[in-house]
Amino acid sequence: MSCRRIQAEVLESAPAAADTFRLRLRAPDVAREARPGQFVMLGPIDHGALDPFLPRPFSIHRAGPDGDLELLYALVGRVTRDMARLAPGRRVGLLGPQGTGFSAAGTGELWLVAGGLGVAPLVFLAEREAPRRKVRLFYGVRSADRAVPLLRLQEAGVAIDLATDDGSAGSPGTVAQRIEAAGPPPAGAVIAACGPWKMLRAIHSLAARWDTPLELSLETRMACGMGACLGCAIQLAVGRRRVCLDGPVFDGREVFG
Ligand SMILES: Cc1cc2nc3c(=O)[nH]c(=O)nc-3n(C[C@H](O)[C@H](O)[C@H](O)COP(=O)(O)OP(=O)(O)OC[C@H]3O[C@@H](n4cnc5c(N)ncnc54)[C@H](O)[C@@H]3O)c2cc1C
Ligand code: FES
Repeated sequence: MSCRRIQAEVLESAPAAADTFRLRLRAPDVAREARPGQFVMLGPIDHGALDPFLPRPFSIHRAGPDGDLELLYALVGRVTRDMARLAPGRRVGLLGPQGTGFSAAGTGELWLVAGGLGVAPLVFLAEREAPRRKVRLFYGVRSADRAVPLLRLQEAGVAIDLATDDGSAGSPGTVAQRIEAAGPPPAGAVIAACGPWKMLRAIHSLAARWDTPLELSLETRMACGMGACLGCAIQLAVGRRRVCLDGPVFDGREVFG
């Protein structure tokens, strides 16, 4: 497996939910190598440009056999706003695929827990695993308008449990409350989660109580995205780790003990 630095062609940039966009890129070399849970560093926008000076990390949301690569992202700052305005035919720098992926070992049920944009890498994992095992996705968002439509996952047989903080769709409450009500998972199941730190901690407590293996995908600010600057280093239960190189996917016990 190798990481590449390429210029990817923009195929489409379209809204996916409130303040959320989907970017489809032509990147066959990266798409072919990508595993669920890995990410790319995006930037600069346009060949030869220096902007953004620091590329930004995004989980791989989909990587098709056709060579297309999709990112799903929230509009939070300057670069993500620039990305939302990208017209087809423009080119963006990409470095990837980077980092560890999910192992999601075994053939038992796979329970996925997504908080907000944490759904981005879990859709890729669900699509890869659904043909060979039962997959359930617990998906929490603040309100119905922030939920990304997941028709392709439903068609692939993935059971989706939506939870909204304001009760405007699905079950009212947090996604941690939703999965707790559904649990415990059957013997042989594994859980993979991505989302805010508070949610990850709650899922870790549940997985420990149920004695179910857990993988967590973490987010930090990043600079180089390739292990050189230590900008992404965080203190985990097992010590200091670089999220870009040692992660972003970690065993739940490595993170919380
Ligand atoms: C491994 C990894 C995977 C990621 N995958 C996705 C993804 O699939 N979709 C997605 O929307 N975002 C993802 N992110 C976060 C994404 O990298 C940032 O949202 C992006 O860099 C923001 O760039 P910007 O220039 O628009 O915002 P900036 O102007 O750089 O920042 C705007 C605001 O967002 C905050 N912020 C920026 N990055 C982060 C972060 N990593 N954690 C917490 N706060 C942050 C800043 O503090 C600031 O308040 C991922 C991050 C990592 C490390
Ligand atoms: S971002 Fe530079 S070491 Fe991880």
